[in-house]
Order: sequence, then C-alpha cells, then structure tokens
Amino acid sequence: MTTRSESASESGLERVTLGDLTLAYQDTGRGDPCLLLHGFPFDHTQWHAQLPDLTPATRLILPDLRGHGASDAPPPPYRLTDFADDVRALIDRLGLERVVLGGLSMGGYIALAFAQRYPERLQGLILLSTRAEADTPEIRQGRQTTIARVQEGGAEAIVDELGQRILGERETPAAITRAVHDWILGAPVDGLIGSLGAMATRTDVTPFLSRLTCPTLIMVGTEDQLTPPDAARTMASAIPGAELVEVPGTAHLLTLERPDIVNPVLASFLARCRG
Ligand code: MLT
Repeated sequence: MTTRSESASESGLERVTLGDLTLAYQDTGRGDPCLLLHGFPFDHTQWHAQLPDLTPATRLILPDLRGHGASDAPPPPYRLTDFADDVRALIDRLGLERVVLGGLSMGGYIALAFAQRYPERLQGLILLSTRAEADTPEIRQGRQTTIARVQEGGAEAIVDELGQRILGERETPAAITRAVHDWILGAPVDGLIGSLGAMATRTDVTPFLSRLTCPTLIMVGTEDQLTPPDAARTMASAIPGAELVEVPGTAHLLTLERPDIVNPVLASFLARCRG
C-alpha cells in the first residue's frame, strides 16, 4: 500500500504505478474517502472549486485519468472499462474498501461503468452533467471526425469546436472559457484520441440503473446542452431512491460555474453517505 507521505511530490500530486500505467492524483482532506473523476479532456484541477467546502469533512482523491493531466497517456485504443479498472486499481492500492465515487460528464460515464463492474466498492455515487445512454450514431460519427482532426493537427485543430461543444452557446465567464481552452490545448494527443474512442464505443447502461443500491446523487445544469436535464431525469427515475438536483442558470460545467450552489449539495450528500 502506498502511503500519502511516501509518494507526495513537490507539485502536491501523488503518483502511483498500476501495472504499465502511472497515474497522478491529488489526495487531500480528512474523513471518509470520496474519489472524483473529471470530465474530458480536463484534469484533477477541475475540482479545485470544491476543495474548500468539502475537505473539512471528506478525504478527496482526485485522479488525472489515463491520457489526461500528469498521468500517463498510453497509445489508444482506450475503453471506458479501462478507466473503470484504473479507478479500481487505484482504490485497491490505497487500501480503501469502499468509496463515494463521483464523476462529471465523461467522469460520470466512467463512474457508471465502475458501478456496473464493482458495485460492492461503492458507498455512494455522484453523477454530474452526465448520461446513461450510449452515443447516438451522429455523435459517434462526430467523434470520429474529431479524432481525424486531432490526428492531423493536434489539439489546436479542435480547441474551438470542442470548447464550444463543452461550453454551449451561452455566455460563459472568461475564466471558465480560458480554463477549458487550456485543458484542451494541454491534453496529450493520445489521450484525446483514446478518450474520444472510449466515449464513442461505450454501451447504454440504462438497463442496469434499477439494480443500483447505493445512495445516488444526480446534478445537472438547467442549461446544459451536452448532457441535458432530460438525460438526468431519465437516470433519476430509473435509480432507486436517487436524489436529483437541477441547478438553475448553469450549463455543463456547473461545478465551476456555481460552486456556491453545488458544494453544499455535495457536502450534505457526503454527510448522508457517512450515515
Ligand atoms: C465531457 O465533458 O466529459 C465530454 O465532453 C462529454 C462528451 O463528450 O460526451
């Protein structure tokens, strides 16, 4: 088992080697563990707006997913189940029996894949700006086009188009737009291609939702065009006892837009999971 002090690096990120893959992660706070999975193509810093309100009572483990941030970017293809297995290997290595697992967007797809494979490891599930259905043929085709453009021109070739897909058409605060563009431009080409392929080939997990037994929180921005409120409502009606919170005036990146609304909801859900 890796202890926090053994592997702490100067950047505040820890590193752990799991088979062929080295993952970077931040491990901060105190209390029962909650592991949060960022969206595509971000990194663990996506969660920094949540730290001040959550770390006093929760140990937050924030990995950079494979192909993102300071983690390794192995050559594609990636499957969504590879990401879920990375999470499982990380919590095994940290010696954690059960965690609250949360994810935003692609992080939510991965959290659902994890829930399907390893339900006994979940103390709770947090699904933010995400959906259970697979890609439509049109979206899948769009991802193939994006992959071809990345192969040709790198991240610069897709920064505007992908930024707009994530942020939507509405006015977004400049700091958030800048952060999204920086994340896209900083993402390794293999990570972009691998993750787009993993999202495109994921399966519909809707039939599995009624079998979820852990406490589940679903949050969505009322103006989210990428993973709209309807998708969140579908999940909420299928998952027994799920709590659905729709955050007015926010879009896909509600955690960055309105931490003042999102964080208290997360904190009280985490308190409920602690029992
Ligand atoms: C994300 O925000 O993680 C992705 O853009 C979601 C997606 O493309 O389906």
